[in-house]
Amino acid sequence: MKKTGHPLGLHRVIEPKGSLPQAAFKVDNTPEIYDNEILLDVEVLNITSASFLRLKKEAGASEESLARAVSCIIAERGKYQDPVLGSGGMLVGTVAEIGEKLTGRNDLAIGDRVATLVSLTATPLRVEKILRINRATDQVWVKGQAVIFERGLYARIPDDLPLEVSLAVMDVAGAPAMVAQSVKPGNTALVIGGGKAGLLCLHEARKRAGSDGKTIAAEFSEKRCREIQALDLADVVLNLDVTKPVDVMEAISEATSGTMADFTINVVNVENSEMASILATKTSGTVFFYNTATSFTKAALGAESVGAPVKMLIGNGYVPGHAELTFRILRENRALRRFFESIYRK
Ligand SMILES: NC(=O)c1ccc[n+]([C@@H]2O[C@H](COP(=O)([O-])OP(=O)(O)OC[C@H]3O[C@@H](n4cnc5c(N)ncnc54)[C@H](OP(=O)(O)O)[C@@H]3O)[C@@H](O)[C@H]2O)c1
Repeated sequence: MKKTGHPLGLHRVIEPKGSLPQAAFKVDNTPEIYDNEILLDVEVLNITSASFLRLKKEAGASEESLARAVSCIIAERGKYQDPVLGSGGMLVGTVAEIGEKLTGRNDLAIGDRVATLVSLTATPLRVEKILRINRATDQVWVKGQAVIFERGLYARIPDDLPLEVSLAVMDVAGAPAMVAQSVKPGNTALVIGGGKAGLLCLHEARKRAGSDGKTIAAEFSEKRCREIQALDLADVVLNLDVTKPVDVMEAISEATSGTMADFTINVVNVENSEMASILATKTSGTVFFYNTATSFTKAALGAESVGAPVKMLIGNGYVPGHAELTFRILRENRALRRFFESIYRK
């Protein structure tokens, strides 16, 4: 008989006592499961972009220094949680054991390959060895184990998509799912950042805004701007540094004949992008901050300081149906899927 666990994983919290696993500094990562947990043999971690970029800057971009930094965080906390940004990522692994309380769940069997849909910041994780790091895609191949709690979410990895692509898009699935809920026909949608989340959001925004709407991409890299154009993901593609709010405001004003964006999606991986997002948006519009390097204070006080009563949404990593929606985007946009494969299938 296994020990009885709490549905929210409270039994794994080491410090501070009383906090939930996500907020805890340290969780118990012992790979012996309670009666309501699932044990995974972990194959690969997808460290969230803002955190991986920060590690590269702080620890150095060599594979050894990144491996050391990632191992250190996991050893100290029993999970991967960026000590500065607080962000994590997600992982793919195969089901090794299912607690007896969950064996009635008929959607999962031993040996199934799943992606966790809860953040690494809330996932007890033990890494025995880092096997390899793909520094271009933020993916870390490991030998280790992870635990999914009773309330934890996961998605079966589809057979028709490469593992690396599924992993990459699952990390950011909440972003296009929120776009699907929020962008309306005729809207002007602005996507700030043309990375993984940005490309998925552009596809979904263009589809939802329809032929009467407009989709604008703002991205730093000239190469990525050309790629967005080639993929035909936006009506307007602007090569902008979104840490320069006035430049962005003026460029969006020009692109929209002064009307600005109805819905702005911030999916860059850097700090100081709050004001560009706010100033590019109609005062009656909405800014969706999915970027984990966003500062609540900068957004809230910054909006106040320029008299912009925009609605602001925090990007929830979980939107019901987000995994299916994101896989669907790659199935309905073959060119985008091929593009993701060219980057991630190495
Ligand atoms: N809320 C959540 O639950 C959640 C979950 C997962 C991820 N996230 C966050 O979502 C964000 C996007 O993730 P991702 O995986 O799509 O990241 P990504 O693939 O690294 O894309 C970020 C993009 O932003 C661009 N960028 C960086 N600085 C810029 C600037 N100053 N001006 C304009 N563009 C700039 C980057 O261009 P370059 O490549 O040229 O630098 C890159 O194309 C990250 O902050 C990530 O941490 C949030």
